[in-house]
Amino acid sequence: MTRNVPRTYYIQTYGCQMNERDSETIAGILQGRGMTPARDMESADLIMVNTCTVRDKAEQKVYGLLGRFRELKEVNPNLVLGICGCMPQQQKVARHIKSRYPFMDIIIGTHNLSLLNTYLEQVLIERQQVLEVWDERAEEELALPARRSGKFKAFVNINWGCNNFCTYCIVPYVRGREKSRTPEAIVEEIEALARDGYKEVTLLGQNVNSYGKDLPEKPNFAQLLKRVNAIDGIERIRFMTSHPRDAGDELIAAMAALPKVCKHMHLPLQAGSDRILARMNRGYTAEHYLGIVEKLRQAVPDIALTTDLIVGFPGETEEDFQDTLSVVRQVRFDSAFTFMYSPRRGTPAAAMEGQLSSAVKKDRLQKLMEVQNQISLDCNRVLVGTEQQLLVEECDHGSCKGRTSGNKLVFFACDKDYSGQLVDVKITAAKTWSLTGELGDEA
Ligand code: SAH
Ligand code: SF4
Ligand code: F3S
Repeated sequence: MTRNVPRTYYIQTYGCQMNERDSETIAGILQGRGMTPARDMESADLIMVNTCTVRDKAEQKVYGLLGRFRELKEVNPNLVLGICGCMPQQQKVARHIKSRYPFMDIIIGTHNLSLLNTYLEQVLIERQQVLEVWDERAEEELALPARRSGKFKAFVNINWGCNNFCTYCIVPYVRGREKSRTPEAIVEEIEALARDGYKEVTLLGQNVNSYGKDLPEKPNFAQLLKRVNAIDGIERIRFMTSHPRDAGDELIAAMAALPKVCKHMHLPLQAGSDRILARMNRGYTAEHYLGIVEKLRQAVPDIALTTDLIVGFPGETEEDFQDTLSVVRQVRFDSAFTFMYSPRRGTPAAAMEGQLSSAVKKDRLQKLMEVQNQISLDCNRVLVGTEQQLLVEECDHGSCKGRTSGNKLVFFACDKDYSGQLVDVKITAAKTWSLTGELGDEA
């Protein structure tokens, strides 16, 4: 007996922008079957959870959700449940989910989303549980439909995977080796987005600076930026993430020369101690990093700099931690994502000596956040009184929300809906995480 055909879907996404982008593909595939989004998880006929495994916390959230799924399935045995992404990409985790959560219908990894329809048929017609994890990405995935979650801003994949193998990081194991899309495929996708009214694209890769190295013609990231900059209709270009090892002069020059490239660089520092950076296998020193920052600020005045930082890496001494604080104070990042080191199964750092207690990690994280929050507030205060151009994302009851070129969130009062437009506002007040502005007269 076949199961009821699901009509509505709900996708729960954890993790980075790559996962958000993959979830748009999942939505595109499901819409292609005639399914529509459910109001909420409880009313959906099919739920997919797209997972992240970069830190333990991300995984714990997913296990919590799987517990909820058990209850939902008891109430509604027809409910179709799927899990995908970076957690089940690890065979061990996939098998664990299969045995501990036998009610999960579809268990797949990061590389075989393109077969979601096939797997659904197996579940619906043959009533099988599907567990399928691939080691490499399926090529057909390049041409999959997507249901984008935004109307003006879109994520565009440029390369997948990572070859860097930072010793703490699981991403290279769950996302595979670096693989670039051709410039033609990327440009084609962005031209289509421009035709659909999109104004801003964020080019996505774990390490965008090494874009193209695996392609026969060896196009590089700076050249790709030039091509995207030439696309009519696109007003803003962002990218994530850059690795300091590959952030070279050509990229900095391209950022300075190309008007559509936003004045923002997310450049993960991770740590300020050379000893820890070496143990992390990051391939640069604090001095090298500071050199890039100096060049960037010279080439692109007012550039906003953001970063990722890890505290409590194995063997990190108080002195090493002070080095991180010192570099943070020197650079004065506009904002930072700060994390406690979380050991990941199978990575070199998890087996290193000198694992720190969670009390030490928490204490350092707290101190780091205090220092950074004050800097973020100071950086935002400097903007009070300046004019900033915003791309407006949303309008809600007389209040619009948009972002500056430097990616700062600004709220301003409005008399009409400016969504999707570029407007100039004067910044009037600053908080740690956002700014307030007012419209100029001519708007
Ligand atoms: N490819 C990107 C980031 C990927 S993961 C880059 O290299 O910059 C995002 C961030 O998570 C990393 O920059 C790092 O700061 C953090 N991270 C990764 N693994 C971690 C771990 N095991 N414990 C704590 N933080 C981690
Ligand atoms: Fe992880 Fe390092 Fe690759 Fe970033 S560059 S995804 S931190 S291995
Ligand atoms: Fe998480 Fe996978 Fe992204 S582990 S950070 S969702 S690549």
